[in-house]
Amino acid sequence: MAHKNILIIGGSGFIGSQVVAQLARTTTSRITVPTRRYERSKHLLVMPTVRTTIADIHDEAVLDRLVAEADAVVNLVGILHSRRGPRGSAYGPDFQRVHVDLPRKIVAACAKHGVRRYLHMSALGASAQGPSMYLRSKAAGEAAAFAGAGLGVAATVFRPAVVFGEHDNFLNMFAAMQKHFPLIPLAGANVRFQPVYVGDVAQAFVKALQNEATRGQTYELAGPHVYTLRQLVRLAGICSGHPRPIIGLPPMLASLQAFFLEHLPGRLMSRDNLASMQVDNVATGPMAAELDIEPTALEAVAPRYLAGVDMQQQMDAYRRGAGR
Ligand SMILES: NC(=O)c1ccc[n+]([C@@H]2O[C@H](COP(=O)([O-])OP(=O)(O)OC[C@H]3O[C@@H](n4cnc5c(N)ncnc54)[C@H](OP(=O)(O)O)[C@@H]3O)[C@@H](O)[C@H]2O)c1
Repeated sequence: MAHKNILIIGGSGFIGSQVVAQLARTTTSRITVPTRRYERSKHLLVMPTVRTTIADIHDEAVLDRLVAEADAVVNLVGILHSRRGPRGSAYGPDFQRVHVDLPRKIVAACAKHGVRRYLHMSALGASAQGPSMYLRSKAAGEAAAFAGAGLGVAATVFRPAVVFGEHDNFLNMFAAMQKHFPLIPLAGANVRFQPVYVGDVAQAFVKALQNEATRGQTYELAGPHVYTLRQLVRLAGICSGHPRPIIGLPPMLASLQAFFLEHLPGRLMSRDNLASMQVDNVATGPMAAELDIEPTALEAVAPRYLAGVDMQQQMDAYRRGAGR
């Protein structure tokens, strides 16, 4: 079914920008992207069917107005860190607000305005019994997404593995670290990951919007190969031209490292991120046939953008300095 107006919440981010670009390229839908900061979304404005709008999407009245103009809603908003909640709570208040309350509000607004289609971004490993606040809150977000079924809102949930592609925060971070440090002390060195290409993730969203059979489904999205974290860090070092020795940290030192990094500006890592790595980040099977996506190999894409990591960092630093 063709959607005339699609609201893409979180459309300004790393993955969202790809979803917006693929939709703009392959459909005639008018796309609206709310953002907290104009600067974060202005790269989307070169696409003629895309408009961005400054909005606080947590404000129900604002969300209501945006959803009222749409006939499908996509939500990619997600955060990596949260304050802790009271003792015994499954996750902290920031995860509650962004991962759980927001989809609940979106689904309520969709039901109110007769918007029958909702695509929701979760994460591989989301589980109410997951080892981290992040994974537990993502599971609660999925439940909120599917709660609209009885109200006529058909949700599709996506659970990507760690996502790679130009501007990713994963391989680029490890490439940058190897540029600046003589060796890399690495927590979770033996944890297994199955990185998925950002273009494939975006394709899954576009295909789901066009395929009725994806309603009510949950899709894991993962790449063709599984690697240990140590292998991925090594690959990032080689591709960016600064391979460094990698020292796997035992659990105690890994916790200490996460504790310190959590309190540094930029928050490269937190104890909750470390907790997520208690389980492998690997799909339970191949990508679903109805998505019809041939997963892209990391080796086919990452060397190209990681080789430019020095230049990219310089540009990012200029951009930050100029507030753009
Ligand atoms: N990247 C990965 O490897 C990966 C893996 C698994 C799952 N995911 C999930 O995929 C989604 C997108 O990830 P991403 O890497 O594209 O993230 P990203 O680049 O950080 O983008 C996040 C988006 O969410 C919006 N946002 C962030 N915090 C918000 C807040 N507190 N209130 C309102 N809007 C907020 C941002 O909008 P503005 O800043 O423009 O307002 C931006 O559009 C997330 O749900 C994430 O959990 C990502």
